[in-house]
Amino acid sequence: MKKLQENPSSALYPNPVMLVSSSHKRKESIITLAWGGTCSSSPPTVGIAIRKNRFSYDLIANSKEFVVNIPTTEMLEEVELCGTKSGLDIDKWKECKFTKKKSTVVKTPFIQECPVSMECKLKQIVELGTHDLFLGEVVALHLNEEWKQEKYPNMLTYTRGVYCKSEKI
Ligand SMILES: Cc1cc2nc3c(=O)[nH]c(=O)nc-3n(C[C@H](O)[C@H](O)[C@H](O)COP(=O)(O)O)c2cc1C
Repeated sequence: MKKLQENPSSALYPNPVMLVSSSHKRKESIITLAWGGTCSSSPPTVGIAIRKNRFSYDLIANSKEFVVNIPTTEMLEEVELCGTKSGLDIDKWKECKFTKKKSTVVKTPFIQECPVSMECKLKQIVELGTHDLFLGEVVALHLNEEWKQEKYPNMLTYTRGVYCKSEKI
């Protein structure tokens, strides 16, 4: 099998697709992210990588919290909207017709329609380069019971510009 020698890249195969909700004072947004993942089991910690120019960047840096919501393949339209429009210009909650659910620990609401939502408290921002890494401790976890019983169907992943559907084997 021929191996291609490509330029070094941090893209994994695949990356998880996340809808990260954030808020600070009266401002709020939902950003689509594919750069990030699991970091530590105890304390439960996730990492998300955000460019400095995103509206969500300052919301999270100032409020010191965020919520990672995991969308399904049925939510591709909303994922695209939250990944191409800025919360500075539009109300993404309204545009996506998402239901705001009150979080239990943080102030930012989570997305009712997503099967998983992880409330996170910001522990650290690691300045890296194009993106900075936000490390968040998961302080509350909301999971759809049915979705868990069905063993996590319809998960959306992203591999170098291509959306994929993950399947259990
Ligand atoms: C599939 C997909 C993945 C994305 N992943 C990231 C990411 O990991 N980090 C990032 O800073 N922006 C990412 N973006 C771009 C942001 O979602 C986009 O710039 C968004 O409009 C920013 O919203 P905001 O300005 O309200 O924060 C991604 C977009 C898409 C469609």
